[in-house]
Amino acid sequence: MKILIVGASGTVGAFVASALAERHQIVKAGSKSGDVRVDIKDSSSIRKMFESVGKLDAVVSAAGKVHFGEFAKMTEAEFAIGLKDKLMGQVNLVLVGRELIADGGSFTLTSGVLSHDPVRAGSSASLVNGAIDGFVRAAAIELPRGLRINAVSPGVLLESMPSYGPYFRGHQPVPGTRVALAYAKSVEGARTGQVFEVL
Ligand SMILES: NC(=O)c1ccc[n+]([C@@H]2O[C@H](COP(=O)([O-])OP(=O)(O)OC[C@H]3O[C@@H](n4cnc5c(N)ncnc54)[C@H](OP(=O)(O)O)[C@@H]3O)[C@@H](O)[C@H]2O)c1
Repeated sequence: MKILIVGASGTVGAFVASALAERHQIVKAGSKSGDVRVDIKDSSSIRKMFESVGKLDAVVSAAGKVHFGEFAKMTEAEFAIGLKDKLMGQVNLVLVGRELIADGGSFTLTSGVLSHDPVRAGSSASLVNGAIDGFVRAAAIELPRGLRINAVSPGVLLESMPSYGPYFRGHQPVPGTRVALAYAKSVEGARTGQVFEVL
């Protein structure tokens, strides 16, 4: 398969890229790195990327930013960061990509454990992750041409603990190699409308 991975240089994306590269042709995308550049906040940039890479069998998104901050002080503008970037960035990858991906192709988005296991300072991440999980369940039942869509919802990665550790006390960190398996299941398997939790 020819698989586009948006965010392939990141902590999650690098594990996904290396797992899928064993069996597939990978096209890496990022805003500052990769084979193609894209800003997922900008649909015209998404369209340009899809047009430049040609027909794809699968699109994986391991990108998306949210603002972490104490809820009592969170502003509308800070919530808007996650809505524009991690939520609508990934939704727009599907809206644009659904016209250009091959029949039977798949989309795999990234949400995260905070949808249902919140931590301090994570209200925006919880909001956005819950929305992504809801979106894939709903989009799956209406996608045409045998297209599939799933989300991977990882716990905090072991490899991210040096930076995220203080937010995630008591959480069981998951190795990136295990998280990558859920992306392989989504891309290479047959299921759709699923949220694959990796805890
Ligand atoms: N790490 C964890 O423990 C963990 C756990 C659960 C969920 N998640 C979720 O997994 C996703 C990736 O997290 P991560 O820790 O791997 O992040 P990361 O290490 O910061 O990597 C982010 C990746 O996304 C790309 N990117 C950033 N902004 C972009 C944009 N506007 N357009 C296109 N690409 C962009 C970056 O490449 P460039 O620098 O080239 O733009 C990079 O490849 C996030 O949604 C995060 O919430 C992470």
